[in-house]
Amino acid sequence: MSTLPEKVLPWAKLDDPAENYHLASKLSRWVSASSSAMYAHELVNDPEALASFGVPSASYPGTERYELKSSSWGSRVSEVLRARHSAQSFSAALVSTQIFSTILRESACVTESYGRGTPSAGGLYPIDIYLCVNSVQGLPPGIYSLDPFAAVVNRLPLREDPRAFLQETLVFQNLAENSAFHVFFVASMARLRIKYGQRSYRFALIETGHLAQAMIMCAQEYGLASCPVGGFIDQNVDDLLCLDGVEQSVLYSVAFGQPDYLEGRRA
Ligand SMILES: Cc1cc2nc3c(=O)[nH]c(=O)nc-3n(C[C@H](O)[C@H](O)[C@H](O)COP(=O)(O)O)c2cc1C
Repeated sequence: MSTLPEKVLPWAKLDDPAENYHLASKLSRWVSASSSAMYAHELVNDPEALASFGVPSASYPGTERYELKSSSWGSRVSEVLRARHSAQSFSAALVSTQIFSTILRESACVTESYGRGTPSAGGLYPIDIYLCVNSVQGLPPGIYSLDPFAAVVNRLPLREDPRAFLQETLVFQNLAENSAFHVFFVASMARLRIKYGQRSYRFALIETGHLAQAMIMCAQEYGLASCPVGGFIDQNVDDLLCLDGVEQSVLYSVAFGQPDYLEGRRA
């Protein structure tokens, strides 16, 4: 009787380059963007470096150039895209349940009839959504998780005051001050890794971007202000949600609130 070789299942170790990178890119109170600090220093202090690396895209002298013209008749999508900007403050007014629900439903909920407004690699839906709800009509302030298949948010049995948590966790305090709700995007890496191996980390980041952009555009359409927030203390979020920070970890976040009509005047 032949004996089959023992099957060794892949096991996530800390010599996994995606996991190592994820850990190296975290912000903490003690280490702030540590590995990129020297590049930032160079850009700020060396005009030549800024001139060569700081430009948005390469130009190709001597090649044929074709001008891009935008249709003059416009469309809802281009109106929304043109009006979007990253708010630096919010007014303290409540957000209606209807607008809150619409933003989440249209961008992140998975329906039988039309799928989801944002694409998902392999239809695996590896990005979980958690929210700090501060001032949304009909919802007590708290920490919530979204069930995208049932289209409901669940209030988690956590004692944290969501506003105080945001004030401790966001690097930019102005974005915690009056936001109505703050969305955190959490990757469940195992869900992707089972199909995509080392490509999973890339896909998790890309899918998070799709979700965030869809939410930002919905918010804009319904008159809410928003700001993408990459500046947060990762471990605070991971600890709050009991995530191990590697297999499941927060990747990105967006603050939403009522527009602060004084914002422009302050600039
Ligand atoms: C990945 C990412 C992370 C960001 N993180 C922050 C942040 O932590 N705080 C903040 O005030 N803005 C943040 N922003 C917003 C940018 O500062 C903003 O998009 C940029 O200044 C361009 O302005 P606009 O969005 O109004 O066009 C972030 C944007 C992106 C794409």
